[in-house]
Amino acid sequence: MKYDFDKVIDRKNDYSSKWNDLQKMFGRDDLLPMWVGDMDFESPQPVIDALVERAKKGVYGYTSTPPSYFESVAQWMKKRHNWNVETDWMVYTPGVVTALSFIINAFTNPGDKIIVQQPVYYPFFRVIEENGRRLVNNPLIYKDGKYTMDFDDLEEKVKDRRIKLMFLCNPHNPVGRVWTKEELTRLGRICLENNILVVSDEIHQDIVYPGATHIPFASISEEFALSSITCTSPSKTFNLAGLQTATIIIPNTVYYDIYKNFIKRLELLNNHVFGIVAQEAAYMYGEEWLNQLLEYLTGNLKLLIDEIEREIPQLKVIRPEGTFFVWLDCTSLGLDPHQLSDFMTNKAKLALESGYWFGTGGEGFERINIACPRIYVTEAVKRLKTAIREIK
Ligand SMILES: Cc1ncc(COP(=O)(O)O)c(C=O)c1O
Repeated sequence: MKYDFDKVIDRKNDYSSKWNDLQKMFGRDDLLPMWVGDMDFESPQPVIDALVERAKKGVYGYTSTPPSYFESVAQWMKKRHNWNVETDWMVYTPGVVTALSFIINAFTNPGDKIIVQQPVYYPFFRVIEENGRRLVNNPLIYKDGKYTMDFDDLEEKVKDRRIKLMFLCNPHNPVGRVWTKEELTRLGRICLENNILVVSDEIHQDIVYPGATHIPFASISEEFALSSITCTSPSKTFNLAGLQTATIIIPNTVYYDIYKNFIKRLELLNNHVFGIVAQEAAYMYGEEWLNQLLEYLTGNLKLLIDEIEREIPQLKVIRPEGTFFVWLDCTSLGLDPHQLSDFMTNKAKLALESGYWFGTGGEGFERINIACPRIYVTEAVKRLKTAIREIK
């Protein structure tokens, strides 16, 4: 392997949320942080080189989005996801969650309803509630260690005419499902028949393990493309979240204009100079790094699963098909959600995201981020094992 993912990088005091907000979020700072959705790895060397070169120029004035920015997205989608995307469907936005907020404001009215599938990335429902819209939950079904969509429940709920949008998480954070073409098609048909615009958050599109294939929702058919908005970004794939760069793909020209006009009203006219440089370098020269990253993450996942099966059989790992998160079923410990959080923080000394943060169905679970040097995974298992032994 050319890249050294074992390298430990000190992220304290570099403003990283994961390492510097421990006291604020967990009440103590002696924890091993495996929460926030970024990686403890350096980005690909071509990205670092491009940023350094640009930084050396010393002039950081107003920056417009060049065609090459959008072309890099189109090229990547074709190469990695076999999806033909036109550059004139794309809009730069400083972040996917920001885009969700813009979409809510551009396409719905106060009091309208939006569907999510809990347990799910909690900013999905935070952004709905903060914008005065109402949440409709179509909870995932958890059976025999696997999550599936509840289509019967969805069919029932979409009868409500106040539902305007569905936030689809594909691949799904935190349960790690990479939805199949059949599942997406069934969901898409239900939404299409009920005039519900599908907002597909595909930020985890590139982190997919062997055996699974990411299918962009909009690539399934022209009908789906025209009734959906896809949110994408290189920030998970290449660890660029601090550069606030995302691309929103809207093939329907009417919807495109609505979104673009909304952005214009916000006077959000410029792009982040380093975001452009980093994204272009990542999509053009980062593939070798990504392939090695996926191999490394697969190794981390195997280690975590094997160790937990062997050493801590009380816990059950939900094997992810995608994302660098692992959803851990801790229900057999018999702790209520707050006791479980307290246990992870104060006994295991791990900073994890508590399952209940992700809404209904998350109680009794914890989310672990494995995008870190392998010694952290080994250390996390050790801490868990010791803490659980003490419960007995
Ligand atoms: C599903 C999902 N969407 C969006 C984000 C955040 O995206 P951004 O930083 O571009 O707002 C995350 C981060 O963990 C995520 O998991």
